[in-house]
Amino acid sequence: MSSNAELFDRACRSIPGGVNSPVRAFRSVGGTPRFIKRAQGPYVWDEEDTRYIDYVGSWGPAILGHAHPEVVEAVRAAALDGLSFGAPTRAEVELAEVLIQRLPSLDQLRLVSSGTEATMTAIRLARGATGRAKIVKFEGCYHGHSDSLLVKAGSGLLTFGNPSSAGVPPEFVSHTLTLEYNSLAAVQAAFAEHGADIACVIVEPVAGNMNLIKPAPGFLEGLRELCTRHGAVLIFDEVMTGFRVGPQGVQGLTGIKPDLTTLAKVIGGGMPVGAVGGRADLMAHLAPLGGVYQAGTLSGNPVAVAAGLATLRLIGQPGFYERLAAQTLRLTDGLRQRAQAAGIPFAADAIGGMFGLYFRDSVPTSFAEVSDGDVDAFKRFFHAMLERGVHFAPSAYEAGFVSATHDDAVIDATLDAAEAVFAGMKA
Ligand SMILES: Cc1ncc(COP(=O)(O)O)c(C=O)c1O
Repeated sequence: MSSNAELFDRACRSIPGGVNSPVRAFRSVGGTPRFIKRAQGPYVWDEEDTRYIDYVGSWGPAILGHAHPEVVEAVRAAALDGLSFGAPTRAEVELAEVLIQRLPSLDQLRLVSSGTEATMTAIRLARGATGRAKIVKFEGCYHGHSDSLLVKAGSGLLTFGNPSSAGVPPEFVSHTLTLEYNSLAAVQAAFAEHGADIACVIVEPVAGNMNLIKPAPGFLEGLRELCTRHGAVLIFDEVMTGFRVGPQGVQGLTGIKPDLTTLAKVIGGGMPVGAVGGRADLMAHLAPLGGVYQAGTLSGNPVAVAAGLATLRLIGQPGFYERLAAQTLRLTDGLRQRAQAAGIPFAADAIGGMFGLYFRDSVPTSFAEVSDGDVDAFKRFFHAMLERGVHFAPSAYEAGFVSATHDDAVIDATLDAAEAVFAGMKA
């Protein structure tokens, strides 16, 4: 048996930073990442055979809990018939039909293999359809790692941004305007100045990549109205929120219809599936119908699609989201009460099966407010919970995820651990 530390050492020799996606390296909390050997329901086990209650949930997809037997069986059955054909299949048509039936804003969709591909394609589609170059995004929202989206806000309200990653030439983000989340005034100003050149506004309609931040009343409605008025495409990036906050994503909860929607995570049930979909007239710009190019060797992969279809069937059962939301609230209410009892500044928020924990007095509404939290307190909480067998996301800027298998006993075990941890933090 190798320890996590031994594996991490070994990993660092063959993989940059020892991980295949940066947040897994524990850089923002310090310490050694747990190397996961297996997972079942609400639990993951590391290579040292330590069991953890898991609130990462593969960063969103594991809404049914890990390794749900029906999803695993669907994957097994599909794999027996071949892993990939590079030709169309009945199952991908079924997946497209299920998604279109569940999300009223989708007339058509194209399957891809990740959220990054979905958002990259949505942006290209918006630009191709409008013939405009500029895009608007919001500070703290993450839409994957394609060049034009790796940008930090400029120094002035309406100055175009700078790359947030080395290797992205400044010209590549020179068309990307990054505005403050929940500031409709900033979006109004952007449209007043650049309206005729703005191809699209892309937004996480509930933000889950700067911890959890909900849209302020009127914010999403305002985006809808401004985009319609100026002929820009409104893109809801529901990669994280789609089928996570409710049966129809944020668009179902708010009744706001975006022009394009990006999906991934839950729709693949733990396998690589993403999608971009929306208005038929926009989707008609995609190759082979139109001039906007997009393709993928493994797009609509039969094994991944089988996992997605099984997942969507199971989460479509009556009462699923009511139970999920109730369990999530049991967690966040319980944590808040225990922090309060210990006198720790702490707030929590939740929507569907997604939650945010903040080491500050109130729930934040912007990236600036999230950044104002007590990161040291979060780090102490994170490590002390890990010691007690509870695995939260290893960063103060990530949302957490509850699955259908986080029953009362699992949540209460988490709360017992938290009570001891908060008391220790106070001491
Ligand atoms: C809202 C959102 N969009 C896009 C992405 C990128 O998805 P992927 O990691 O599948 O490329 C993520 C990933 O966390 C996300 O949360």
